[in-house]
Amino acid sequence: MAVANFEAILPVSADVNSNGNLSVAGVDLAELAKKYSTPLYVYDGATIQHQVSTLRSLFKKYYPGEAAIAYASKVYFSYQMARKLAALGVGLDVISQTELRLAQKAGFSADGVHLHGNNKSEAEIKAALIWGVQAIVIDSMEELRLVEALAEEMDQIARIWLRVTPGLGLHTHPHIQTSHSDSKFGLYIQNGEAAEAIQYALKSDCLHLTGLHMHLGSQIFEAEPYRIAIEMMCNLAAENNYIPEELSPGGGWGVRYTPEDAVNEVETWVQTVSGAIQEACVRHDWPYPKLVLEPGRWLAGRAGVAVYSIGMQKTTPNGIHIIAVDGGLADNPRVALYQARYSALVVEAPQGSPSEKVRVVGKFCESGDVLIQEAHLPPAVRGQHLAIPVSGAYQLSMSSNYNCASRPAVLWLEDGRVEILQPREDLDSSPWLVYEP
Ligand code: LLP
Repeated sequence: MAVANFEAILPVSADVNSNGNLSVAGVDLAELAKKYSTPLYVYDGATIQHQVSTLRSLFKKYYPGEAAIAYASKVYFSYQMARKLAALGVGLDVISQTELRLAQKAGFSADGVHLHGNNKSEAEIKAALIWGVQAIVIDSMEELRLVEALAEEMDQIARIWLRVTPGLGLHTHPHIQTSHSDSKFGLYIQNGEAAEAIQYALKSDCLHLTGLHMHLGSQIFEAEPYRIAIEMMCNLAAENNYIPEELSPGGGWGVRYTPEDAVNEVETWVQTVSGAIQEACVRHDWPYPKLVLEPGRWLAGRAGVAVYSIGMQKTTPNGIHIIAVDGGLADNPRVALYQARYSALVVEAPQGSPSEKVRVVGKFCESGDVLIQEAHLPPAVRGQHLAIPVSGAYQLSMSSNYNCASRPAVLWLEDGRVEILQPREDLDSSPWLVYEP
């Protein structure tokens, strides 16, 4: 039985079971909450697989050249998650040495991994060169020279992409825009830096410029900026007599967090991006470059559900009914950071009529610790559980130990099976809490 209204934002395997509880992959979330304690995060294997195969079939439909998915590991990464993704044959966007090491350990092929970052350390660059990644994505002129020098020192030819910044403003939260002219990311097209970098790289003996990259921002609901930016990136290459073997328009495609959010068809994204690259190929008489998309939120967001235990309730003098749960700001800082809007269901009454307008707050010592300003829920009592859909992206990876909170356990659910991706953090044995000089 599908969960009315929430169907499009819950994991694809979500259902209501014979106990009347919300389940994912056939597993009862209330039972999981009791067994693994809360806050608890679950990932639905079927949803991740569904997203990967949807994207692959859209590549087949719209792009005549080679195309690949590189999961943006900043969304959520752990060793066990990395192994699941490696098994699906996707590539990876990493941004730190630890992410790189996890990718290596989990069995990713270096050919599908690229290293990002606006301030990579020498150690990170060297680790990427030693492993022989698909590309080090160059973010500035200074970094271009540094990578060249390190490659020379290591007697290597570094495969690089240049990240170009088109100077476009987008309709998304200011913290997650990256393509405007004042962005800290990339080589700016506007001031000639991107052109200079292409010329420099083409002349270097230690650099192999295999492609160009851009990333416009995150939680984007319009395809037109991708078309414009791809046209700019391809014109830039053509003006510098450069034919890219690989082109990456980044990630950024937005997802719905609540049933009320606008639908954002991924087909529109793939069709637009593919069309823009094909037009450029015709215009400049190029062979089709390999297209690399870097979806993060779109790939994993809907697969994740956060499960909390319902605790204290009160009503303010202004009549706002408050429900407190046992997590919040520490495992999900997105509401405080980006004013993100979520929706929720009571695990034990997922079909219950929303008779109450409530505010869902966390347990942390800060008034900004609100998970949902205005949720519509059936009456719920202490001991029941609250599920927040679309919790798979940038929550755990941005979580903290505020108030000495332990980071939650994370489970992978597939066909009735439960696997632990990450055990609940044990602060009693954490070095920073038991440290004695
Ligand atoms: N590629 C690059 C180079 C990126 O910097 C990012 C995200 C992605 C791909 C994936 O973007 P996505 O498809 O997930 O939108 N913490 C913020 C989002 C930060 C995005 C950082 N970069 C949030 O919670 O909304």
